[in-house]
Amino acid sequence: MNQTTFIQQLPKVELHLHIEGTLEPEMMFELAQRNQIALPFNTPEAVRAAYQFSNLQSFLDTYYQGARVLIHEQDFYDLTWAYLLRCQADNVIHTEIFFDPQTHTERGIAFDTVLNGIDRALRDGREQLGISSHLIMCFLRHLDEDSAFDTLRMVLPHKDKIVAVGLDSSELGHPPEKFERVFQEAIGHGFLTVAHAGEEGPVENIHNSLELLSISRIDHGVRCVDDSALVEKLAQRRVPLTVCPLSNTKLKVFDHMDRHNIVELLRRNVCVTINSDDPAYFGGYMTDNFQAVANSHALTPQELAQFTLNAIEASFIDDAHKQRLTRQVQDFMHQALA
Ligand code: ADE
Ligand code: ZN
Repeated sequence: MNQTTFIQQLPKVELHLHIEGTLEPEMMFELAQRNQIALPFNTPEAVRAAYQFSNLQSFLDTYYQGARVLIHEQDFYDLTWAYLLRCQADNVIHTEIFFDPQTHTERGIAFDTVLNGIDRALRDGREQLGISSHLIMCFLRHLDEDSAFDTLRMVLPHKDKIVAVGLDSSELGHPPEKFERVFQEAIGHGFLTVAHAGEEGPVENIHNSLELLSISRIDHGVRCVDDSALVEKLAQRRVPLTVCPLSNTKLKVFDHMDRHNIVELLRRNVCVTINSDDPAYFGGYMTDNFQAVANSHALTPQELAQFTLNAIEASFIDDAHKQRLTRQVQDFMHQALA
């Protein structure tokens, strides 16, 4: 089996995926028409051509604009279902996805409209596609603490549908300490926590997210290499990093994939995983991200599979489920390397 086929067929687990970031230009046009929303572009190709980003903020400005076409519960269902079909095509067997309620509630869309559409698609994905999933609600860090508290209150009647809370959007100028009290309250309600940290922001954001927000995983976290004692600690404690290779090159966190540090971190025994972040904007889903790393770094089949084993370890599923998924990877390896 050649490496391209191996990567395509390898069972995968995704832990860092913003559902709003799976809005392909074609669906953007379809929903814009359905919901009578004007777009500043004439064709999906023109939208795609405009996706040239210089940093995180330049992307976020475009991304929040795109989300305006999502209005009805069915829109959120269709968006999530289309992503799950991509998972099926990429052999993603489990996924833990983010959504940003404030992107929608700030525009007057009801929290329940968003959540119910996504949740119904995830349930259909489990039943019809056999893809297990969890949902993580993120707070937008460029908004204030009060808005995050309001959002936390909205989710309380739906605790059974959400496994964790997270923190995303503009990292520079909005450090984790701004949300310490919200996160502590969320923990009190039984939620696990994660946060974007050390994507564009300094390594202090990783330290503070671990200490003040009690996070179980670091989203991105690639700036950890600025502090070698931290890298040692992450490796020893197996604190997971949900790394997004194509996102990082698109947003100029690294100039080129051959400068990306994910393979160095893997070999330093950090629990790094490969994820797609906002695949409709960054040029690829899970298989594309694995392939992009493998194109720029020499990796053995065992190392490629280790990304999935790390993701299983880092996931929020129970031990029996972890064992089942691990067995699936082992069976695949036996067959692929036979
Ligand atoms: N929201 C969607 N994608 C993001 C990213 N890469 N960083 C921060 N916030 C985001
Ligand atoms: Zn992200």
